[in-house]
Amino acid sequence: MQKLLATVQQIFDEEKFIFEPHELYEPIDYTLRLGGKRIRPLLLMAANQMFGGNDEQVRYAAIGIETFHNFTLLHDDLMDKSPLRRGKPTVYRKWDENTAILSGDTMFAMAYQYFLRQPHEQLQQILSCFTRTAIEVCEGQQYDMNFEKRDDVTLDEYTEMIRLKTAVLLAGALKIGALYAQAPAQDIEHIYQFGIHLGLAFQLQDDLLDAYGDVAVFGKQTGQDIRDNKKTYLYLQALQSATNEVKQELKQIFESTPQDSEPKVKRVLEIYDAANTRQQVEKAINSEFSAAQRSLDEIQLPEEKKAPLQNIMSTLLGRKK
Ligand code: IPE
Ligand code: IPE
Ligand code: MG
Ligand code: MG
Ligand code: MG
Repeated sequence: MQKLLATVQQIFDEEKFIFEPHELYEPIDYTLRLGGKRIRPLLLMAANQMFGGNDEQVRYAAIGIETFHNFTLLHDDLMDKSPLRRGKPTVYRKWDENTAILSGDTMFAMAYQYFLRQPHEQLQQILSCFTRTAIEVCEGQQYDMNFEKRDDVTLDEYTEMIRLKTAVLLAGALKIGALYAQAPAQDIEHIYQFGIHLGLAFQLQDDLLDAYGDVAVFGKQTGQDIRDNKKTYLYLQALQSATNEVKQELKQIFESTPQDSEPKVKRVLEIYDAANTRQQVEKAINSEFSAAQRSLDEIQLPEEKKAPLQNIMSTLLGRKK
């Protein structure tokens, strides 16, 4: 996996992202060079390798999927009013809102441009998977915003929302990698399901880290989901286990947007702690990882071929960023 990550890193190092007008491309270069975990291109390339593909064949697909992901971040940070990403100011803060919108739009189009750069027999199937995924991510983002204003979101609705906003992109990256390698249809389905469960676990972890992470490691402002009234797994679990009185309090807090958000964040964390929310989320995360493992086990390949994906999964298991 380290070798694969180095390959991904090299692919990005070799790519140029600055063009004219520089006001448009500088934020793109800033975002793509800041790195992040590169989990989506890593998954795409690992799936491709696993089914016998070659790295060169997915070079631009790997850049494309990461460029799309970074586009969603530019717009997401604007929507969530997040000040920090990867330990640095978000694009709309460093520049302005219009810049985040337009540079983001450009990255979305660039993603297609990257995919189209390499001809492939299955390109139509690959691009239709990518397109469907992109639309689903937007659907998920809309639910995420809708839920900010609702106080009756169910755990099932939450799971569907994170499946759309996060899991389908990890699953799509894996499927696209497998499509490039012309993997058997059955295995493509299994690897997609693997990605869905991995992605659900990944977003549950993100919610947990948003509440309890270390800013210096996580690279994002903590408590932001609470400030934004996000109906995360933590919130929904706390609501379920709280007494009627605390339930009312929590609902009320999540309808307010005070100027000084610190007391709000502090009180909600107290409620989460009292409700053992952390342990509940950890349980849900482990259960998604187990489901991911079962999907990986279904793939008809010798275990040694699955080692890199197994490895990526173990690395994600205890992630702090
Ligand atoms: C952030 O994705 C958005 C979520 C789906 C939680 P990552 O956690 O993969 O962000 P980077 O790319 O590593 O910064
Ligand atoms: C991530 O949701 C989903 C997308 C960016 C599409 P979050 O809003 O939780 O992601 P972070 O925490 O800002 O990275
Ligand atoms: Mg966000
Ligand atoms: Mg968001
Ligand atoms: Mg988050």
